[in-house]
Amino acid sequence: MSLLDVEDLSVSFHTPDGIVKAVRNVSFSLKEGTTVGIVGESGSGKSVMSQTIMGLTRGAQVSGKVVFDGRDMFTLKRDALQALRGSEIAMIFQDPLSSLHPYYRVGWQIVEAIRAHDKGLSKAKAHERAVELLGLVGIPQPQRRIDDFPHQFSGGMRQRVMIAMAISLNPKLLIADEPTTALDVTVQAQVLDVLKRIQREFGTAIMMITHDLGVIADMADDVIVMYAGTAMEKSGQHDMFYEHHHPYTEGLLESLPAYGDLRERLRPITGQPPSLINLPTGCPYHPRCPYVMDVCRTKVPPLRQVFGEGPHQSACWLPTDKEGRAAARAAVAAGTYSGATDARLTGDRT
Ligand SMILES: Nc1ncnc2c1ncn2[C@@H]1O[C@H](COP(=O)(O)OP(=O)(O)O)[C@@H](O)[C@H]1O
Ligand code: SF4
Ligand SMILES: [Mg+2]
Repeated sequence: MSLLDVEDLSVSFHTPDGIVKAVRNVSFSLKEGTTVGIVGESGSGKSVMSQTIMGLTRGAQVSGKVVFDGRDMFTLKRDALQALRGSEIAMIFQDPLSSLHPYYRVGWQIVEAIRAHDKGLSKAKAHERAVELLGLVGIPQPQRRIDDFPHQFSGGMRQRVMIAMAISLNPKLLIADEPTTALDVTVQAQVLDVLKRIQREFGTAIMMITHDLGVIADMADDVIVMYAGTAMEKSGQHDMFYEHHHPYTEGLLESLPAYGDLRERLRPITGQPPSLINLPTGCPYHPRCPYVMDVCRTKVPPLRQVFGEGPHQSACWLPTDKEGRAAARAAVAAGTYSGATDARLTGDRT
């Protein structure tokens, strides 16, 4: 059984300019001890989705279902939800200073977090546990550093403190929203290693939100590629890198210098993500897609099973078989693609 089941989740905001459709019909599940990577450009709905899962989106219209460890998150009473947050589900963010108070020593903050959920625990015991946690996330001399203030830590060390606080109650699920975005690559790798170690040791499930495919490569078991608030492609990590189907996934990968074939020109995705108030008709990616066909402009492509290992779905009208998809790719590369008229390339669209 999954620890987390998200079914057909949609979130929208009523604004003076219109209805912002931030998340549309996203479904996925996450098993204990595994990591799902949620990847997509800025504004694709990743943070709104994670906050909604935690029951934190105020003033939003939400539909769908989120079941965490057998409990329906949207029907839980406020108190129960609050008790769950921090203890069974914890979150870490890009900027630890948004969660760490600048005026209090980090040890005190961890002790308070522990005691807020376990009032019976003595201060001495909680302090002991805080030192242990700082050591666990790789802070040297935790006994001494526990009395430091957040600003006395470097960015990477501060993120470790944040992780120590997040795991203080041994949560079953850790939601990490761009936790390493502000860090340089080496420090990023160290912080991700800490998360992986914690996962191995405690079986924590991780929802890793990022715009960085390097983080996905490092951490994720399964991947969801989001665009304009919805899932474009869902697969295991291997398929996402080596057997991807969706042109948006392809575009993300080709704009990565480390991945794209350097003999070819790197191809950044042209154009901008659409307005979430006025979404394009049909496929939301069609205004930017090099494979666009007539059908893409009018009919929304559903997620369909495609080739590759294991479950692998893509919301795209291109052929679902490997050969058909490869033919389209070859035609685009050769400049001979004419999706609008070439019936062989349009796959099964019933
Ligand atoms: N409270 C809100 N009211 C209106 N629009 C919002 C609100 N919160 C987020 N949005 C919009 O929802 C979209 C998705 O945002 P977000 O989830 O933060 O993207 P990401 O995390 O992928 O960068 C954005 O267009 C953002 O402006
Ligand atoms: S459905 Fe059409 S426009 Fe959308 S990604 Fe696939 S080929 Fe491109
Ligand atoms: Mg975000």
